[in-house]
Amino acid sequence: MTARHFLLDTDLTSSEQAALLDLADQLKATRRDRKPARRPLEGRSVALIFEKPSTRTRLSFDVAVAELGGHPIVIDSGSSQLGRGETIEDTAAVLSRYVDAIVIRTFAQDRVDRMAAAATVPVINALSDHTHPCQALADLQTIREIRGRLAGVTLTYLGDGNNVAHSLLLAGALAGLRVHVASPPGYEPIEQVVRHANEIGAVTGGEALVMHDALEAAAGADVLYTDVWASMGQDTESDSRALVFQPYRLDEKVVEAARPDAIVMHCLPAHREMEISAAVLDGPRSVVFDQAENRLHAQKALLSFLLDETTAGVGSR
Ligand code: CP
Repeated sequence: MTARHFLLDTDLTSSEQAALLDLADQLKATRRDRKPARRPLEGRSVALIFEKPSTRTRLSFDVAVAELGGHPIVIDSGSSQLGRGETIEDTAAVLSRYVDAIVIRTFAQDRVDRMAAAATVPVINALSDHTHPCQALADLQTIREIRGRLAGVTLTYLGDGNNVAHSLLLAGALAGLRVHVASPPGYEPIEQVVRHANEIGAVTGGEALVMHDALEAAAGADVLYTDVWASMGQDTESDSRALVFQPYRLDEKVVEAARPDAIVMHCLPAHREMEISAAVLDGPRSVVFDQAENRLHAQKALLSFLLDETTAGVGSR
């Protein structure tokens, strides 16, 4: 049986994504009501590989696996042979003999893809330089629980056309979202991602638009979203990026341009008074901690989706 992976947002169909979000909502309600939870990972182990720092992803996956009855094993490059040059393929082959799934946060998307190609168990992308699909699932869950729907919702993303932006474009397109990205010239999302999002949107009603004016992009938005200006690995560019991205700060002026009930999102960690003003991040429109919480529920749903044969109609490809 071939393992089912989650390497890119588009590894789910629109209907699978919707079913997964329904499951995430159910898991959230069950946890809140302290009802006895199903334990589909009973007797199973999941390796969590972190080649980059993490707070939310690491903790939420660790708790998710444990709450589903499984055994999480966290490793990083510094304390494993990955850091001493063991190939991703050999690592995938060895881990596949021990664990039932592999979650990996790494650098190039190619490392995630190579891990999946060599593994015989499901591989989940916990962030690459190209995409952050687990974040986008939690973001969609958050938007849907507040707005009551996803199709037709306008999400305006301000800042770097990075991995988070790519996943919002792709996952948003699957859900029928209108995703408007305002970036400085030279820092836009990759054209191929925008094109792919629009191809999906042609079927779902979604739209992917790249703009350069922050206030124009924010006009009429239901959701305002931003991320750090310098991602992990770009720390030496922090000062130059701070100048370039200044006009894209998510501040009170941007909030005023959006719909009166617009919500504010940030995947965290945030830098107050850099990409987002403290007043907006800590203000009444901000749902950033709901987003962070939903990482847990969405990832429990994802793990169940990939590993629990009894869960809603998703088998191996
Ligand atoms: N948003 C996110 O992925 O957070 P961490 O880097 O803390 O995992």
